[in-house]
Amino acid sequence: MLTPRIRRNGNHTHATDRRSVTPDRVAPSHPRLVLRPATRGELRATARAHVDFLPTGLFPSLGARFVRRWHRSFLDSPYGVCYVVVDADAPGDGLVGFLLGTTHQSAHTATLLGDRRAIASFAITGVTAMARRPRVAVRLLRSRVGPWARRLLTRRPAGRMPDRSTPAPQVAVITALAVHPAWRGGGIGERLVHRFVAYARNAGATMAELVTPTGPAGAVGFYERLGWEAGSHRHTRDGDGLRTYHHRLRDRPHP
Ligand SMILES: CC(C)(COP(=O)(O)OP(=O)(O)OC[C@H]1O[C@@H](n2cnc3c(N)ncnc32)[C@H](O)[C@@H]1OP(=O)(O)O)[C@@H](O)C(=O)NCCC(=O)NCCS
Repeated sequence: MLTPRIRRNGNHTHATDRRSVTPDRVAPSHPRLVLRPATRGELRATARAHVDFLPTGLFPSLGARFVRRWHRSFLDSPYGVCYVVVDADAPGDGLVGFLLGTTHQSAHTATLLGDRRAIASFAITGVTAMARRPRVAVRLLRSRVGPWARRLLTRRPAGRMPDRSTPAPQVAVITALAVHPAWRGGGIGERLVHRFVAYARNAGATMAELVTPTGPAGAVGFYERLGWEAGSHRHTRDGDGLRTYHHRLRDRPHP
């Protein structure tokens, strides 16, 4: 059975390679809980948890199978991060929480867009998911396809592209974070964020960023409690409020 609320034990963050499976005990009072990089075999569980506990945005509305394909792209990328907290003794997958993110968002996106096989696999999984969810497909066509097409048609000509001589700052991004409701309020979310921040800083990122819904589905109070700085606010095409949060990792780029 899940045991909610664990006792805090300071900041146990370690900047380790996300592929080295070095488990981090979450708290001595709960030796069963470990925080470590996710394995491929755990993506079914992280995808399910994403859809169940963080159902905002377009991708979760396409279902767990599509989300699993999306999560896989983080494990496949040199800039992707996926941490899990697992209850080693629980039956089933034992997933207690997960964090998905990147240590360098623009490089991660460029790597993904440069991988034709990954794009084709995304497209197939996306079309299959939409065929099973015609309502989501209609919503997507109405709200997204028009703006995407307009953006493509109004792209700046090559001669007027912005100056790229100054390298863009390395921004790490938390894409998703969720803790099983039975375990909330026990410090697991905070541990996952600290572990990510330490790893991203060590990987050279100067800033960490995330976007969270401002309504009840979001975690504005959580990030403010952790000292993240509130940034811009905007509305999604579906009308939900979103707030960006920043956390400075270092003053100058990694040498
Ligand atoms: C947000 C979430 C990950 C927090 O996980 P958690 O394990 O419950 O968080 P923690 O116990 O580590 O909380 C750390 C601190 O933040 C506070 N906190 C947690 N959630 C909060 C919230 N929604 N609003 C205000 N404060 C919050 C806790 O009380 C705790 O403060 P304390 O140390 O003074 O007691 C979890 O509530 C969740 O999965 N929510 C649904 C998904 C979601 O919103 N994800 C974030 C969007 S990116």
